[in-house]
Amino acid sequence: MPRAHIVGWGKYVPQRVLTNDDLSRMVDTSDEWIVTRTGIRERRIAADGETTATMAVQAARRALEVAGIGPEQVDLIIVATATPDYFFPATACLVQDALGASRAAAFDLAAGCTGFVYALGVAAAMVESGAIRTALVVGSETLSRITDWTDRNTCVLFGDGAGAVVLRAGPDDGGILATVLGADGSGKDLLVLPAGGSRHPASHQTVAERMHFIKMQGRDVFRFAVRVVPTATRQVLERAGLTLDDVALFIPHQANGRIIESAVRDLKLPPERVYNNLDRYGNTSAASIPIALCEAVEEGRLRPGDVVVCVGFGAGLTWGATVLRWTYPQPAPTPAWRRFLRRLRYVLAALRSWLRRLWWKGVVGRG
Ligand code: UT7
Repeated sequence: MPRAHIVGWGKYVPQRVLTNDDLSRMVDTSDEWIVTRTGIRERRIAADGETTATMAVQAARRALEVAGIGPEQVDLIIVATATPDYFFPATACLVQDALGASRAAAFDLAAGCTGFVYALGVAAAMVESGAIRTALVVGSETLSRITDWTDRNTCVLFGDGAGAVVLRAGPDDGGILATVLGADGSGKDLLVLPAGGSRHPASHQTVAERMHFIKMQGRDVFRFAVRVVPTATRQVLERAGLTLDDVALFIPHQANGRIIESAVRDLKLPPERVYNNLDRYGNTSAASIPIALCEAVEEGRLRPGDVVVCVGFGAGLTWGATVLRWTYPQPAPTPAWRRFLRRLRYVLAALRSWLRRLWWKGVVGRG
């Protein structure tokens, strides 16, 4: 049976930084409260014109670049997100079009902050079954667009960004080793975007009642998270026939430093084996784990053979854990001429997309 190996990784975060001091000028909060209660110091905020799809495309291009794979070789694109560009079409289709991934199937996956772990599990299973060879798995979020900037309980937590990995069929001595996924919909009200769907379609009333913004019962989600992270970690390791001693790097969803500390205490993992970049990006939901994974590789914290555990939790309620054996060495820098050719390919993809849109409108080619 082939295994799904991570052969490419990339991230994108918007340029604009919003610090805790900036927030303290917007709502009744302070840098001291935010740092001690969450560990967050700053987060990135998407510029006008940046969306979940545009950030996903940037991260995906970098991941393909690292993998040395052209977009036409991708069989499947999954975008895990709670903040898609549209209800439909799927953001993954926008990514497929922008990349010129002409052979790829594309869909979005909604599992809250656990979305990336779910998407990785689904894509890995498809690779292992032989149904596909190459998948692009993206977590991308523009949470700033659904954040209530008057609510200090939530607005200090979230940030924007995207991370992507390329999964490819490879030998069975590494790659994704096991996945555990779970859900408990009885907790649906603990973290919810109440309006805009079929239950509360957009209306003057939903807008007036601020129902298009994130509502969260923080303390309950906190309690859920500190319980589920260690449990899912132990379960996934057991499924892979490994122990906590085998873990070289633990990458939890970056939601709150205190949740991470509690899980790490419970699991008795030494701090140097835990990845944390929460201070710089805040909670980027489905993007947090792929951004963290990407930064861990860039910082040289992963070597071939290392065992990595990623654990997510969030709206649904959902949770999930993946254990993988890192098999891909740091890539050599891409020569300038190849980077130029890749850029040219994306210009051609944009041209192709534009021509096809004209075709759909009947402006060209359909008589
Ligand atoms: O991505 C997945 C899901 N999300 C999470 O994992 C979030 C999980 N929950 C949390 O991270 C934490 O519950 C929060 C960071 C959201 C809140 O921290 P907490 O320690 O649970 O605070 P709390 O809600 O118990 O509030 C404590 C106090 C309250 O004041 P009183 O009632 O004690 O007077 C809040 O009003 O802190 C107050 N407070 C704030 N004060 C200053 C709440 N937010 C703020 C704020 N600045 N931003």
